[in-house]
Amino acid sequence: MSELSDLYRNKKILAPMVRAGRTPLRLLCLKYGADLCYTEEIVDKKLIEATRVVNEALGTIDYRNGDEIILRLAPEEKGRCILQIGTNCGEKAAKVAQIIGDDVAGIDVNMGCPKPFSIHCGMGAALLTQTEKIINILTSLKAAARVPVTCKIRVLDNREDTIKLVKEIEKCGVSALGVHGRRRDERQPDQCRVEEIREVARTITTIPVIANGFSGEIEEFSDIEKWRSSTETSSLMIARKALSNPSIFREEGVLDKYEDIANFLELACQYDESYTMTKYVVQRILGGDQEHDPRGKATVAAGSVLEICRAFGKEEVYNKWRDERKKKQSKKRARVDD
Ligand code: FNR
Repeated sequence: MSELSDLYRNKKILAPMVRAGRTPLRLLCLKYGADLCYTEEIVDKKLIEATRVVNEALGTIDYRNGDEIILRLAPEEKGRCILQIGTNCGEKAAKVAQIIGDDVAGIDVNMGCPKPFSIHCGMGAALLTQTEKIINILTSLKAAARVPVTCKIRVLDNREDTIKLVKEIEKCGVSALGVHGRRRDERQPDQCRVEEIREVARTITTIPVIANGFSGEIEEFSDIEKWRSSTETSSLMIARKALSNPSIFREEGVLDKYEDIANFLELACQYDESYTMTKYVVQRILGGDQEHDPRGKATVAAGSVLEICRAFGKEEVYNKWRDERKKKQSKKRARVDD
């Protein structure tokens, strides 16, 4: 058993989510009690083309391409943030590992995304039937990475194939394996395949297995442990429930959605999150309240982070963090002038 694997043992984890799994939601889930958080999937090419910048005004490490922030890492998530990449190529994956160094705690490869964009590029779930390619990607990553390497799969269309695949993955020397208990063509409300995850956990004994796919069943904190133990896995990772109700990670109990939104907005302002990404998460937490609550309707109509904050009476939060940034920027300018 490798020490690198300990990072993934007995953990409650924020699952990777495109558009949502960015700095503010990751930090919020960690604050509430998540042990690890995954970034949204970032395609290898984007990181290879990005520039690494130490952002003094925010205290973050940014990977950016022009105005686009591809990845923003905050000090509070050091050692607890796993970068998820989309890739179809061992060489490019290795390049990402060299670039990212130990800015993140681990690197995960998405082998479960069934979206046409991923499949057409030979990434995500398209990899599941290409064992040689998987081996090439994982061994190349392992050779280049300074941090643990993992992957997240879906179960295959028959159990024997799933078991064959996970044995090959285990041999690549990965530090953990995430398993979403649905097949490539399955979606909600298809049931998550508990037994098939359990079979993987019983087969793969040298590394932790992370169960995924139970958001529909998770209503309160204790449900996380319930599903972890019934799958006999080491850890559990949550996506949709953590997006609609991030405080699911609070041992003391979930919070009212408006408290979750207020806490999210504080972090979105502190870390200068973009308008579109901020709005996306707030809308997902609001759910049906977008049509029924004045704050929800005001969010739908909002055209900036300031307007979203205003919808919840949080204008002063927006102003506080904007002023803070300005102060730091002008101090930096003064230092440069000296
Ligand atoms: C996802 N999922 C996902 N998976 C992944 O490996 N990389 C990604 O970037 C994303 N992006 C993403 C965005 C959004 C909005 C959702 C809802 C889901 C899938 C996710 O990580 C998880 O595997 C499934 O949602 C099943 O877990 P839950 O939702 O039942 O906890």
